[in-house]
Amino acid sequence: MRILILGGDGYLGWPTAMHFAGGGHEVLAVDNYLRRTIAQQTQSEALMASPNLHARAKLFESLSGHRIQVQIGDCADFRFLEDVVRSFLPDAIVHYAEQPSAPYSMIGFSEAQQTLNNNLNATFNVIWAVLMHAPDCQIVKLGTMGEYGTPNVDIEEGWIEIEHKGRKEKFLYPRQAGSLYHTTKVLDTDLLWFYVRTYGLRVTDLMQGPVYGLSTQEAELDERLMPNFHYDDIFGTVVNRFLVQAVAGVPLTVYGKGEQVRGYLNLNDTLQCVGLAVEKPAANGELRILNQFTELFSVNELADRVQRAGKRLGLEVKVQTLANPRKEKEEHYYNPVHKGLLELGLKPHLMTEEVLSDMLAKIIRCKEQIDATKILPRVRWDTAGTKSGH
Ligand SMILES: NC(=O)c1ccc[n+]([C@@H]2O[C@H](COP(=O)([O-])OP(=O)(O)OC[C@H]3O[C@@H](n4cnc5c(N)ncnc54)[C@H](O)[C@@H]3O)[C@@H](O)[C@H]2O)c1
Repeated sequence: MRILILGGDGYLGWPTAMHFAGGGHEVLAVDNYLRRTIAQQTQSEALMASPNLHARAKLFESLSGHRIQVQIGDCADFRFLEDVVRSFLPDAIVHYAEQPSAPYSMIGFSEAQQTLNNNLNATFNVIWAVLMHAPDCQIVKLGTMGEYGTPNVDIEEGWIEIEHKGRKEKFLYPRQAGSLYHTTKVLDTDLLWFYVRTYGLRVTDLMQGPVYGLSTQEAELDERLMPNFHYDDIFGTVVNRFLVQAVAGVPLTVYGKGEQVRGYLNLNDTLQCVGLAVEKPAANGELRILNQFTELFSVNELADRVQRAGKRLGLEVKVQTLANPRKEKEEHYYNPVHKGLLELGLKPHLMTEEVLSDMLAKIIRCKEQIDATKILPRVRWDTAGTKSGH
């Protein structure tokens, strides 16, 4: 298949590009280095420096024999994206090209505006480029479990049937996101649904939980092929922040009561899920929504797991509670359905002590580069509304 990866320089995009190319597909990776630019502006650079996309693709080809084509450009620029789609004529587009940091989107007006414009325009342009130039191409879009928030009832897989005054209808499951970034994902889903039901596009929207992991079959070929690893408060997920704190010998910073539960998954399972979505596509006129995570645990449980894995490597790991910079429920009901991907054939890789120890061992090799002050929260949800940003 001809597979276009938008956001191909990213944490998920790069391993996905290698994975599809390794599987014999024709792959084009597109990126405008927005993440690298924001990381520089906010002093949130990755722990391990990674070569640019052209250099990584060249290295991967020399080691594996598999080619990844690269184009640098902005998916929020319709003329650019239209040209890419018209000339490459993809069978599938995997759309990762968004500003994915919740804290960044909450810094102030400028960052909120950039997140909104970038994410909505990129998705809108993908839809139009497909409608105009490759109408049979399937779109696999990355959403987030954060679209649903933490309602006090079970979370269904994208849709819910409502009975109201004796009549029934199926609707998108109600969504109430906890940051402007997550809200752009809700709006993306609405845009996709409008164009799916109006023009018969075929779309899979993957509601993904936080992803962890540094190792994939292709990334093991050379450490310069490793996915980007951010550990700061802007781009670092809670898993990455905890692992780096464990190595740096500073206490793990749990926000608030630490009973916030989320659904996590291993990077190798993201590759499986996206692969399954592409191999077994949505039908024309179908917006297929799948909840993409494999395990649920609270922040406190995650801290325990990191503590145990650290002990195996002789690290003494302490835990500290911080006032929560976010506006979120710290104790809540959480029971999301996640059957669709298992039914498609997903075989989960779980967060074992071994997996965490393996990540810790990779981080220990870069211990000298760690700047532990980058991990403490710099963005507070309650003051974002009043700031103009950078
Ligand atoms: N990593 C996770 O834990 C996670 C969880 C849920 C959802 N997601 C979603 O998955 C997708 C990928 O996440 P990630 O962690 O790889 O993020 P990332 O920031 O590492 O990757 C996104 C890539 O897209 C690029 N990009 C952004 N806007 C662009 C544009 N207008 N044109 C071209 N390129 C652009 C960035 O430069 C970056 O390389 C995002 O949409 C994110 O919201 C990620």
